[in-house]
Amino acid sequence: TDVKSVNLEISAVEPKQYPRKRYPEIAFVGRSNVGKSSLTDVLMNRKNYAHTSKQPGKTQTLNFYNVNDQLYLVDIPGYGYAKVPKEQRETWANMIDTYLTKRHELSGVILLVDGRRWPSKLDTQMKTWLNYYQIPTLVVATKMDKVKHSQWNREAKFVKNAMAINDSSLALFSASKKIGQHRIWQWITKVAKL
Ligand code: GTP
Ligand code: MG
Repeated sequence: TDVKSVNLEISAVEPKQYPRKRYPEIAFVGRSNVGKSSLTDVLMNRKNYAHTSKQPGKTQTLNFYNVNDQLYLVDIPGYGYAKVPKEQRETWANMIDTYLTKRHELSGVILLVDGRRWPSKLDTQMKTWLNYYQIPTLVVATKMDKVKHSQWNREAKFVKNAMAINDSSLALFSASKKIGQHRIWQWITKVAKL
């Protein structure tokens, strides 16, 4: 996809703040610090537009990026970061649950996992939850630049097993090396019916 325009339209916390335009939406979910904002940037072909950080817990709202006036990429806070106070984590969890379960415009979710590790319990629980709500999901194993090329097949097998998915629902990605974004765009184009 040729990204011509990108605009952070709104940072929302409540449904009444969601955009009124009825574009299809693709949301990014995964553990805090896994690389959701970094993936969003690479897909939008922008550098640190979706603010990334070494500190987990950087993204705190639902950030709706209008791409080409035809689609929203929605960058959301991560889960599982223990240093965020419990109350704050619960508020975020509610905000994310509400968005993922009630938003009609949501066409698909990109679930990021760390390519250097076996997917965590939280990751597999999230996948089970997305299955339950029948939300089309692409699992993206990211930070693959940190994994030797000879180990990529092995990593892909791990993730497919842990998530109970096949090849068509998995992409390997690196934000720093910019590997894998074309396949991710292909998936987005298909599920968002662009
Ligand atoms: P929260 O907003 O806190 O949930 O984090 P996030 O998932 O949005 O992560 P973010 O994109 O901010 O990235 C977290 C850290 O991981 C940053 O230091 C990034 O530079 C780094 N990072 C992200 N993607 C990659 C990647 O593909 N390779 C490497 N080596 N580092 C990455
Ligand atoms: Mg973020």
